[in-house]
Amino acid sequence: MNPTDPGVPAEAGATPAHGADGGLEADPESLIPGQAVRVAELDDMGEIALPPERAVSAPTLSLLYRRRARQIAGASDLAALQALHVAVLGRERGEITRLLSMLPELPLEERKRLGRAFNLAKRWLGELHDVRRARLESEGETRHMLDVTLPGRRPWTGHAHVLTQVRDELLDLFHGLGFSVYESPEVEWEAYNFGRLNFAPDHPARDAHDTYFIAPEVVLRTHTSPGWVRAMEERQPPLRLVFPGRVFRAEQVDASHMDQFHQMDGLFVARDVSMADLKSTLNTFARSIVGRDVRTRLIPIYFPFVEPGCQLDVACPRCDGQGTLAGGARCPVCKGSGWSELLGAGMVHPNVFRAVGYDPEEVTGFAFGIGLERTAMARFRIPEVRLFLENDVRFLHQF
Ligand code: DAH
Repeated sequence: MNPTDPGVPAEAGATPAHGADGGLEADPESLIPGQAVRVAELDDMGEIALPPERAVSAPTLSLLYRRRARQIAGASDLAALQALHVAVLGRERGEITRLLSMLPELPLEERKRLGRAFNLAKRWLGELHDVRRARLESEGETRHMLDVTLPGRRPWTGHAHVLTQVRDELLDLFHGLGFSVYESPEVEWEAYNFGRLNFAPDHPARDAHDTYFIAPEVVLRTHTSPGWVRAMEERQPPLRLVFPGRVFRAEQVDASHMDQFHQMDGLFVARDVSMADLKSTLNTFARSIVGRDVRTRLIPIYFPFVEPGCQLDVACPRCDGQGTLAGGARCPVCKGSGWSELLGAGMVHPNVFRAVGYDPEEVTGFAFGIGLERTAMARFRIPEVRLFLENDVRFLHQF
């Protein structure tokens, strides 16, 4: 049907509406086209008045036909249609049956005219009923069709963020090694973030280009190491603590730099703590994070708050420490070095002990600082540090 052609009636039957007596009605044209011709044919037989004592639903046959046709077209389910069928076409008490039963009382001519008209109405309403029933039945079949092979719908459940998972795993590991958790503030005194950790007054990290100052002498901590200072000022040795938390740096954000990320420092202070203790602790960490047989190395590197300072490397997981891939190409992960950096560490600098009132002749200690994003990226081969903060569920759901 062309909906722009004004000569063609719109398909009103598609959307049933409530009729005068409250039941749903629709245009029967949508069931059997040519209804107007049928009504005209009935009308051509002359007006056929229906006696009210027969308890029929309209004063004339033409009206009765039109009303019942609309009701049949609008029947919303098989039960409603069946009820209509009984009321209109039922063999015992249907209104057409009742009309037909009056025929023998009529004169012959009237009997012929009305008999033809009643039978036409009966046949056409019956046809409408049959088409409507077939439609309702096929709709019902599709509506109730069950595809038992469809996967079920799981309720959506959240879970811990990948960084939280990595942090908790590390907390578990260090808890087993005797470390407990110390939390310190994200907004920190400049003196705790730098000075008492033996940064020189003109150290470049103290520059506003690298550090967010939020007031004179107050910064967003750039690492979790200031936690050591607070813990040592508060407590007496021996101490065995880890310091998980968020840190901030005024970085230009790109695939491998964020201006906020997470670290976990560790600190062990007691009598006679040695580099050997540090090494065994770091190797335990590396084996648990990367794998039992991982090869590690400690190389010297400078941090103001440790002496000696070192960096823990593990054999590159991509090229297995070879520096080259199978075809001879340079490994893109370790850039050919065969090693990938895991963390910074070292023996606590005597100046840090002095700053918190410990006697460096009495105690020694080791410390380390783990980057949680870097650890998660190495563990799960995540290529891009920004993913951790974007909160895109397509990313989060993978871990
Ligand atoms: N705080 C250092 C940083 O953010 C990391 C670090 C290095 C922590 C050596 C330590 C350590 O505890 O011993 O770059």
